[in-house]
Amino acid sequence: MTATASQEAFLRAFHAERPAVTAEAFEGGRAPDGRSSYEILCHRVAGSRRVLDLGCGDGLLLEHLARGEGRRLAGVDLSPESLALARRRPSLSGARLEEGRAQSLPFDDDSFDACVSHMALMLMAEVDQVAAEVARVLSPGGVLACVLGGGAVGGEAYGRFIAMLRSFVEAAPPSRRIPALGDSRTRSRDGLDGILGPAGFTATHWETVPIDLGGSADEVWEVVSRMYDLGPLDRAAVERLRAGFMTEAKEMAGPDGRVPCGFRIHVATARLR
Ligand SMILES: C[S@@+](CC[C@H](N)C(=O)[O-])C[C@H]1O[C@@H](n2cnc3c(N)ncnc32)[C@H](O)[C@@H]1O
Repeated sequence: MTATASQEAFLRAFHAERPAVTAEAFEGGRAPDGRSSYEILCHRVAGSRRVLDLGCGDGLLLEHLARGEGRRLAGVDLSPESLALARRRPSLSGARLEEGRAQSLPFDDDSFDACVSHMALMLMAEVDQVAAEVARVLSPGGVLACVLGGGAVGGEAYGRFIAMLRSFVEAAPPSRRIPALGDSRTRSRDGLDGILGPAGFTATHWETVPIDLGGSADEVWEVVSRMYDLGPLDRAAVERLRAGFMTEAKEMAGPDGRVPCGFRIHVATARLR
């Protein structure tokens, strides 16, 4: 199996078990201005009528987009289980929801005014091919707007969790580790420009926003434990990780029991020339 095929097989298998995992973790998260990361992305394409969601998952972002009048919406995802949830949303009854790969989009040239992607572009292999495909299906002047993971806010629970998780992953046998996902160039503005520029996009507008995912220790565990790396770990390891994390999380809690848990997102926008 090629590296790309094994990455995509892992993603399909993970989302078969947990088809709404990202929406469950991020729907309740809030930026300092009170918006969720889904709402931030939605506002970036406010004027666009024909919108494609790349790696749409269970359709939460498309549901936000469906509140805009007269929109024609489409979504593509590797996971049939996630798409089944998207198809159950009444607001998406008119949307075109396709199982497929972003590297080979099942849409005609010039089909969309905007393409959005929430926490998905950074997972994709052969991302130069994805950029070329997005450019093909967008009309000239069309917008690509993405939310990309930007890591933990320092000194808070997400960062502590990632440090603890790393030691568990290092101790696990290779068969219980996830494949390397995505292309590291998507983690910086210059890297993303190097992908999007050759496909015909303008320089990226790049903004980093902290998302507050805090709550009780149990609520924060529910958020952080949805990360891909936990999927293959054995049950005993996950239970030890949970116990260690809960001890630390409770120590981090404020007088109201709230555990601070910040996660940074990068909001990247570029326009097709
Ligand atoms: C972290 S989830 C995000 C789901 C959704 N956008 C959200 O934020 O709620 C990443 C999604 O991207 C999809 N995905 C990853 N690589 C893909 C590819 N090459 N083509 C299509 N979908 C892909 C996965 O199946 C998964 O549903």
